[in-house]
Amino acid sequence: RPGAQEWVPPAADVDDLRAAAPACRGCELWEPATQVVFSAGPSDARLVLVGEQPGDREDREGEPFVGPAGRVLSDALVSAGIPRGDVYVTNAVKHFRFEERGPRRLHKSPAVTHIRACLPWLSAELAVVRPQVVVCLGVTAAKAVVGEAATLGALRGRILGDDEVGTGLGAGRRVLITAHPSSILRLQDPAERRAATGALVEDLCIAAAEA
Ligand code: URA
Ligand code: SF4
Repeated sequence: RPGAQEWVPPAADVDDLRAAAPACRGCELWEPATQVVFSAGPSDARLVLVGEQPGDREDREGEPFVGPAGRVLSDALVSAGIPRGDVYVTNAVKHFRFEERGPRRLHKSPAVTHIRACLPWLSAELAVVRPQVVVCLGVTAAKAVVGEAATLGALRGRILGDDEVGTGLGAGRRVLITAHPSSILRLQDPAERRAATGALVEDLCIAAAEA
């Protein structure tokens, strides 16, 4: 498959992009999903948050970060003093990828082929919104924005240098990579969870201070 490019309208604003996204057949993920999940937030936001892909709840509701991970994100934004309504929230991949287990739909991480296929949407969003800072929530977003070799370890928690953002979507942009809220949900130990939440809040504060 060719990727999303042919479905992305040229010189569009965010509403045009959102209106066009349901028709996308840039990869096979559209078919089992309920609907495309585009973005939320103002198109003149100074801060863009990029997640991985919609989850089960987002797939049903058609809005990004409205499920359990969204709750973690909302709480972290509150702690960082960032009104959620001020940020533009989107995902690297716009359709939910899952595996059916009886009645349950289990999240399956997108493959690099899906990240690659969906890049034209994120590219168009960043071109319209032109944020001061792009925050990558987790490694999938980081791969989409700074390149497929991205890892969290060495890169997280600071505005990346020009040599680190690569030649793709991140080029010429200020980018900060942090943890995905879902990775916090997976922690069982309350102390670990508190520490991970604190680190996410701290990273969001750094991004907001630069925006
Ligand atoms: N996880 C994401 O990465 N994005 C969402 O929209 C929801 C959960
Ligand atoms: Fe298009 Fe992205 Fe959905 Fe694939 S995941 S069909 S590229 S919108």
